[in-house]
Amino acid sequence: MWRPSRRAVLAGSACLLAGAGTAAAEGVAASSGPGLGELAARSGRFFGTAVTSTALAAADAYADLLDRECSVWVPEWQLKWGALVGDPADAPAYGPVDAIVAAARRRGKRLRGHTLIWHEHLPERVRGLSGRGDWDRIVAPHILAVAGRYRDAFFQWDVVNEAVEPRDGGGDLMRRSPFYAMRGPDYVADAFALARRAAPEGRLYLCDYGVCYAEGWQEARRTGVLRLLERLRAAGAPVDGFAIQGHLDVRQRFDERIFRRFIAELEGLGLELAISELDVREADGDGGRSLAERRQRAADEVAKVLAVALDSPALTGVVTWGLADDHSWLRKTRPIPDNQGLPYDDGLAPTAMRSQIAALLMAARSRT
Ligand code: G3I
Repeated sequence: MWRPSRRAVLAGSACLLAGAGTAAAEGVAASSGPGLGELAARSGRFFGTAVTSTALAAADAYADLLDRECSVWVPEWQLKWGALVGDPADAPAYGPVDAIVAAARRRGKRLRGHTLIWHEHLPERVRGLSGRGDWDRIVAPHILAVAGRYRDAFFQWDVVNEAVEPRDGGGDLMRRSPFYAMRGPDYVADAFALARRAAPEGRLYLCDYGVCYAEGWQEARRTGVLRLLERLRAAGAPVDGFAIQGHLDVRQRFDERIFRRFIAELEGLGLELAISELDVREADGDGGRSLAERRQRAADEVAKVLAVALDSPALTGVVTWGLADDHSWLRKTRPIPDNQGLPYDDGLAPTAMRSQIAALLMAARSRT
């Protein structure tokens, strides 16, 4: 049984006091009041979302929203290896990312780099690699080239994404990816060393999902993440932070004590934190609930996690994975065609989640 933390109750009441409770009120609050990025800055944090060069170039109402609400943008997929090149022998197509960097500079946004190493969205030829020499010949040059090109453009980097996978059966709970095949578990430290060399000013993060809920498989993932981070710390790898993706799911069981303990363990490693891909996946079928009830349930799900995360001075910021539902990956790859999981609806009206995030940011303890 989830009981809201003190902070969530405070935030919720701030939300009500702000008069937001109806789409119209939320609309007014969102369109005329401070953006979420401004609210986050009050506690020394950022708020942002995933973007594409296409969305930014559209110069439409959604692009205006990306500007009004965000202090940070993250390339949703165009910085990934498989988007930059079809084959490692090809010259990378940096155009879309260069456009995002230029737009960010024009609009005064900071950028998170996502991601240098991930087992998905790879050039076809890389998927089949496994030789030790492939790392030096193909992977290392990729990391150096991309991090080097954007060394001054991205202030945080997801250097390695989703390195943990207990279901692969390894004692180290790590994913058996092509990179693991090449170098064993040490590929992660190698990737961070290369990223530090190429982008010495960047804050370098490990990133993973499935660490917020009480389910057993998520406990195994938390254990894998902590073991890997401890190994990296012991090896002196230049790891500055951990990004909790934050793809939430109303069907999972949240236990505040468990999540608070995980945050404390990450803080104990001296790491910065980020919530880097926040959104909410609804249950299959809405159970006859109204849109308003579904949106409130999604907002409540976000409050459970953010109320704990925003209590941590280590949390540098929050990024949602899109701002409006019709831009969500969940609409493309999940069986809920009208998933309600982001701060704005398909018509770009702010939802209960936008009010909830605003209230939580307003109630957030300062990082300093
Ligand atoms: O828009 C182009 C289209 O013009 C082109 O014809 C087509 C050819 O494949 O590609 C289209 O782009 C697709 C893009 O999504 C936009 O829909 C890419 O193929 C597709 O790979 C891309 O998927 C992204 C996925 O990561 C893989 O990169 C999703 O947008 C993105 O939301 C998803 O994000 C991941 C995080 O990086 C890691 N955590 C999980 C999260 C969700 O899967």
